[in-house]
Formats: sequence, C-alpha cells, structure tokens
Amino acid sequence: MYLITGAGGQLGRALAEEFADEEVVALAHADWDVSLPPPPGLAPELVLHAAAWTDVDGAEADPQEAAAVNVGGTANAASLGAPLVYYSTDYVFDGEKREPYVESDGPNPRSVYGRSKLHGEAAAGAQAWIVRSSWLFGPTGNNFVRTMLRLGAERDEVAVVDDQLGSPTYVGHLAAATRRVLGLPHGIYHVAAGGEATWADFAEAIFEEAGLPTRVRRISTAELGRPAPRPAYSVLRSEKGAPELPHWREGLRECLDRLER
Ligand SMILES: NC(=O)c1ccc[n+]([C@@H]2O[C@H](COP(=O)([O-])OP(=O)(O)OC[C@H]3O[C@@H](n4cnc5c(N)ncnc54)[C@H](OP(=O)(O)O)[C@@H]3O)[C@@H](O)[C@H]2O)c1
Repeated sequence: MYLITGAGGQLGRALAEEFADEEVVALAHADWDVSLPPPPGLAPELVLHAAAWTDVDGAEADPQEAAAVNVGGTANAASLGAPLVYYSTDYVFDGEKREPYVESDGPNPRSVYGRSKLHGEAAAGAQAWIVRSSWLFGPTGNNFVRTMLRLGAERDEVAVVDDQLGSPTYVGHLAAATRRVLGLPHGIYHVAAGGEATWADFAEAIFEEAGLPTRVRRISTAELGRPAPRPAYSVLRSEKGAPELPHWREGLRECLDRLER
C-alpha cells in the first residue's frame, strides 16, 4: 500500500490521481496531523509525504509550529519504516547564484520556512528520495495561477514581483515524475519545470493563456514587502539524471485546461 500524506493539498491530490492504479491510502490533514505520531495499524510499502506547513510568510511568526510540521511531521512519517518521498523546495537556497542550482550546491535558506524544509530533509532518513521542486501550481488549492485568475477577473491591472526568477512547476508533472524518481537510488533530486520566469512573466502568461486583458505592473520584492525573504534566483536543474519536466508554459496550459473542464 502507498500512503499519501497531505492528500488534500495541491500536490497530494495530483499524487492521488497519478498513483490511482496502485493501492493507495490518502490521508488529508484531518485524517492524520503529521505533527502527531502515525495512526495505529498503518504499514505502507512507500510514503509519498506531501503534508507540510507551506505558509511561507506565516512561518516567520510561528517558527515552532512550522518546524513541528515540516521537521517533526517528516520524522513521524519516516517512523513508519517505509521508503519515503519528501518534497522539498528551492527556498533551501539563498538565491545568490545566477545559474541553475544543482544538487551539489550548498543550501543556505534565508526564511524560517526554508530552514524548516531543509531540516525536514534530514528528518526524512536514509531511505528517502528528497525531491526539491519550485513554485508549485495546480487546479486546486491556494496557488499563484488561481490567485491571478481571480484578480484578473476583478481588475484591469495587477502589480506583480519582477525580481525573483524561478521555475513554476505544474503539480501534475511533478506527480508523474515522482514515479520515475522511484527508479533512482535514494538521495536528493532537483525536479522542476523547464524554462524560467519571474512572477510577473508568469502572470502575463496566465492572462494571455486565459484570454484576459489584465495588465501586469512589474514591481520589486521590496515594494511588495512580504515578511519572509525569498531567493532572487532559484531555478533548479539536475546533475544526477532526475526526470526532466516539460516547460512551465506547457504546465500552465494543462492546468488551465483542467480548470476549464
Ligand atoms: N507550493 C509550492 O510552491 C512548493 C514549492 C516547492 C516545494 N513545495 C513542497 O511541496 C509539498 C506540497 O506542497 P503543496 O504546494 O501541495 O502545498 P499545500 O497545497 O499547502 O498542501 C499541503 C497540505 O499539507 C496539509 N498539512 C498542513 N499541516 C499539516 C499537518 N500538521 N498534518 C497533516 N497535513 C498537514 C495541508 O492541509 P491544510 O491546508 O488543511 O492545513 C495541505 O493539504 C510540500 O512539502 C511543500 O513544502 C511546495
């Protein structure tokens, strides 16, 4: 049996779809709060650990709770004794590089969230695949695509940050790539969409693909003034033969298709 944690989240849902041909137990937050020990009787052969504290700004004000979920929760998932896939983030890097981050680059997280996810990597144990991805979006949940579609329907112009560069990754592509990661030795893998974009580039593409006339006003991270620092550059690539994902624009089109259905 494959266990999916955080099954109500955007990646958790995509994993449940991708692995629908397996025997799957999909536990959402209400079914198992991963900061607590696992429910009795669970004996998975594989854990797809998608539960996490993902409120990047909220973590700055509540580092203990973020760590309880991202570090303690990962240790609890690993305590089941099965091989585990842990989803990590580009925010483990400081963003000082100007070429893609590969697996051998040293992490140096600048936010509470990034630190908690990095410590979570260590808590995943020796029989884990650490899959670092970035800027996830999908047809459900809170994500940038859904926020832009909502704002775009309400406004003529939206102000969007133009000085962070990353790879917006479609959860369906990440879920499909997870299957291929399972064929690789345990370890860290960078699995993010092809191409790169700023949030402003991504917003323009969303409006264009969705046929909305909304304009994007390009602003700086400083102007937006969010509590948590974010890397200015966090494009991820693999030097270890991790699966390559389609370009982010293809992911965006697939996501919009799903939303329209
Ligand atoms: N989103 C991104 O841009 C991004 C980028 C790189 C890596 N990642 C990583 O990818 C993974 C999946 O993220 P996502 O985008 O799918 O996030 P998401 O949509 O926020 O899903 C996370 C899920 O975890 C659940 N959760 C939170 N606290 C929990 C707890 N204590 N016990 C059990 N479940 C809990 C949430 O439930 P509630 O909503 O009910 O709290 C939510 O359903 C995470 O490990 C994240 O760190 C995300």
